[in-house]
Amino acid sequence: MLRTLLIMISRWRWARRVVSQWGIAKRMALRFVAGETLEEAIEVVRGINATGMSATLDFLGEDTSTEEEARNAAGTIREVVHQIEHSGVKSNISLKLTQLGLKFDEELCRENLISILQRAKDADMFVRIDMEDSPFLEATFSIFSEMRDNHGFENVGLVIQSYFYRSKEDTQRLLEKNTRIRLVKGAYKEPVEIAFPHKREVDEAFDEIGEVMIISSTGTNGWAASEDGKWPPITAIATHDEKRVAYAKDAAERAGLSKDRLEFQMLYGIRRNLQEELCREGYPVRVYVPFGEEWFPYYMRRLAERPANLWFFLSNLVKR
Ligand code: FDA
Repeated sequence: MLRTLLIMISRWRWARRVVSQWGIAKRMALRFVAGETLEEAIEVVRGINATGMSATLDFLGEDTSTEEEARNAAGTIREVVHQIEHSGVKSNISLKLTQLGLKFDEELCRENLISILQRAKDADMFVRIDMEDSPFLEATFSIFSEMRDNHGFENVGLVIQSYFYRSKEDTQRLLEKNTRIRLVKGAYKEPVEIAFPHKREVDEAFDEIGEVMIISSTGTNGWAASEDGKWPPITAIATHDEKRVAYAKDAAERAGLSKDRLEFQMLYGIRRNLQEELCREGYPVRVYVPFGEEWFPYYMRRLAERPANLWFFLSNLVKR
């Protein structure tokens, strides 16, 4: 109920406008967001790299509603690629298609994405398309395939959310083309007609899909994570849930998958101890580092995932 409400609020433009101005809210969001500028984010990535982990930089933004906003977002993302290349940090990038105009002009979104993929290809860098909520699922799959099949971009991968009933089949289809996949549980509120309503089922599906990905990355089909942090292996297990992590590690051992072919990904500000532990064990670990002024929807989803975060936020507001 609370989760549903917070996810709903994350979409309210007026709430975004009002809350983004509160200094106290901004300071609290900094637990999960690397700052409002690219320079701040690059510094955070340097720190992450110093501990042996790589990053994926995400210029925050979604649901843009004008051509100007979408083109500006694409321009900033190309600049992120440029700064990664020139600063030498170990990172690639993640982006959302609604940030590039998907919601109101698919053609504009394609055009923006092509410009980013081309820029990243020139820098020999991988680009992850984040998966948003179900109204954008089909369009995201279809634009992704177009980029691979019609435009020949190999440097692009997708996200699978284990809460959808269809995800196992989607995964099989993507793996047939050796797609690099990040597996997550799913951060949005989805109807029971299309998504598992209970956490236990989402977790079981996560383990099952993760194992399929792991098996498919063995032998000649898989790749190791690249040393420069720009390319992930096929299988990226993105969770802070220790049981899911343990399952993936066991599945990899059963399948004979070497550690460098199994990446763990986590969000900036969450379970740092687990990130460092996996890194010490010899797995590639990538931290998702969001930055920018549009932190409100991202922050609300993080509050929705864990009620304790919301109480912390509210008690700080009251203490003010
Ligand atoms: P779960 O929610 O069961 O949490 C397990 C444990 O992790 C908790 O007990 C707690 O200790 C810790 N934890 C989890 N969330 C926390 C929080 N917000 N604050 C503090 N502690 C927390 N989703 C999506 O729909 N599309 C996408 O493209 C992506 N991309 C993405 C990239 C990466 C790198 C990650 C790690 C996650 C995503 N997600 C996502 C989000 C994902 O779907 C999911 O909502 C979160 O990862 C939380 O789920 P967990 O798997 O961590 O499990």
